[in-house]
Amino acid sequence: MSTLLAGRRVVVSAGPTFEDIDPVRFIGNRSSGRMGFAVAAAAAAAGAEVVLVAGPVHLETPAGVERVDIRSAAQLRDAVLAALPADVYVGAAAVADWTPRDTAGHKLKKQPGVERMTLELVRTPDVLAAVAAHRLRPRLVVGFAAETEDLVANARAKLAAKRVDLVAANRVGVPGSGFEAETNALTVVGEGFERALGPAPKAALADTLIELIAERIAGRS
Ligand code: PMT
Repeated sequence: MSTLLAGRRVVVSAGPTFEDIDPVRFIGNRSSGRMGFAVAAAAAAAGAEVVLVAGPVHLETPAGVERVDIRSAAQLRDAVLAALPADVYVGAAAVADWTPRDTAGHKLKKQPGVERMTLELVRTPDVLAAVAAHRLRPRLVVGFAAETEDLVANARAKLAAKRVDLVAANRVGVPGSGFEAETNALTVVGEGFERALGPAPKAALADTLIELIAERIAGRS
């Protein structure tokens, strides 16, 4: 336990979103929620009041954390914005970029002789960019970037496009890093700043990320 974030309110998003196609099918992704839950636990251990907006995952709520369960990207946006004002937002959720334009009210049946179907998708709200542009913008807005290549360049592009303060980039699609794994490696970028963390267990990386966040918050008070 520390007091690095005592008196601060931190909102964290974690896990996947599920975008429903019909009552039995959805578009999801491989996020387990581990990274975001670790960040929420580390923030609470540093003395912060923490709201964890969690997608559909099977993880226990970290001690001292208020949890709000959501399913879709639209619900995640509503829950995160409802949790403002806050000092810090950390977007560790793997938010779907696309959602079905229409969700069928009944199970979509196979039709004899029909070999193809087309699903029309529309963009989801960009929650991170919405938080960064909000009138109640937290002092520090931190995104994650899940990348398969050009980690730092892509993270810097997201930093600028979404107008956030830090982006923690991780490689996905390789063992021991990114989705599902117990461990990860992060490259944290900010304006004039770059720091490689790990490989290490997600809990240890979360502790270091929270230290970085606390330093930056203190510098802005
Ligand atoms: O949950 P785990 O299994 O532990 O895996 C951890 C993780 C790989 C999911 C996590 O470390 C991670 O990288 N989370 C972000 C995944 C992601 O959606 O990356 P992105 O590059 O597509 O998005 C960039 C940022 O924008 C993220 O902060 C994301 O939360 C945010 N975003 C994206 C789309 C959207 N519609 N709204 C958003 O807020």
